[in-house]
Amino acid sequence: MDERNSLAGRRIVLCITGGIAAYKSAELCRGFIRAGADVHVVMTPAAQRFVGGVTFEALSGNPVSTDLFHAAEPGVIEHIRLAELAELLVVAPATAGFLARMAHGLADDLLGAVLLATTAPVLVAPGMNVNMWQHPATRDNLALLKNRGVHFVGPDEGDLACRTYGAGRMAEPPAILEAAGGVLLPSDLAGQQVLITAGATREPLDPVRFLSNRSTGKMGFALARAAAGRGARVTLVCGPHHLRPPLGVTCVDVETAAQMAEAVEGRVDSMDLVIMAAAVADWRPETVAPKKLKKQDAGDSDSLPLHRTTDILAELGRRRKGTRPLLVGFAAETGDPVMEAQRKLQEKGCDLVVANDVSEPDAGFAADTNRVVLVRPNADPEPLSLASKDAIAHQILDALLPGLGSPPH
Ligand code: CTP
Repeated sequence: MDERNSLAGRRIVLCITGGIAAYKSAELCRGFIRAGADVHVVMTPAAQRFVGGVTFEALSGNPVSTDLFHAAEPGVIEHIRLAELAELLVVAPATAGFLARMAHGLADDLLGAVLLATTAPVLVAPGMNVNMWQHPATRDNLALLKNRGVHFVGPDEGDLACRTYGAGRMAEPPAILEAAGGVLLPSDLAGQQVLITAGATREPLDPVRFLSNRSTGKMGFALARAAAGRGARVTLVCGPHHLRPPLGVTCVDVETAAQMAEAVEGRVDSMDLVIMAAAVADWRPETVAPKKLKKQDAGDSDSLPLHRTTDILAELGRRRKGTRPLLVGFAAETGDPVMEAQRKLQEKGCDLVVANDVSEPDAGFAADTNRVVLVRPNADPEPLSLASKDAIAHQILDALLPGLGSPPH
């Protein structure tokens, strides 16, 4: 299985400073290990008052570094060893005090020295009280660090350990893992404007009923995550869903096919690439009843008058002048997916149709894996092996790269 995962086999130095969120860093450490990374943990003295080094030693399988003057092996300069082995440094949680020290390049402890000595990218996940987060000193330090190219994830807004509510909660481990994966990906889509649709639309019949389908949005969300991780500016137009929005992506929530059409058509002119991964309803009830329909009012009629919805992709294909944006469709089929994809490629005027057989248990709706065939004009269909939807998303983007070239905007 091609498990495209930018964390696998990478050396991550996980730096923990003294905040209450340090307990979540154990889960984060496990997440890196599960993704196949080699994790080396650095803890400040304050961090060790919140969580024990033994936990991280057991989770990472590597010694935990805490002291500027105590090396893992004799004759080794500890901060240089860590600075050079790191392919990525992740500071989680980062306290307000740590951000101040880092902004000013203080290097009188192990963590400060590692951060000054490294040339690897640094991702910081702040966690602190809301007033500390909003303090002008922290704002200035943050601006300084962002200017120097330090990456940030979070903080989130929510209940804080100091019994207040506001911005300052360290981002959750899955979001930090996603951000770390993004930092390690190539930025080969930088400057590209990408619009992706995801999920099912819902076509209301009355206030309690609707017509819809089994799409969960997982493939579209994976595409948005992958494109954003590779530097694209991504807008995700999605039907009702239960998924965590990908980091750095602008989400536009819609419900019906008509709303999706409006959201897409209003944005398409500035796009380099449009991927219609949504399972758009093809019909909607002719009328939407303002009140719940009652059986006794239906009389003898058992049929439901329907209207065709706009075919958004076909409309984009018709309106397109020149080669921008690239248009990608999906063909979720229960018959011969490649034949159907070839028909849709022609009828809808797209550059690529991703075909899959949704009747297979490990592909299609709700599954975390997918098995697809890439169908393009004047080319043999290209089957991809079974892989996670994230890995498939990257392969679809790889296939589109030559057509995208440098962004014209
Ligand atoms: N699509 C769309 N607007 C619609 C229906 C579909 O933009 N009203 C897009 C989907 O997002 C997908 C592609 O068209 O990218 C193919 O959708 P699919 O439902 O597989 O095909 P249909 O066009 O509905 O054709 P058929 O009913 O013959 O399967």
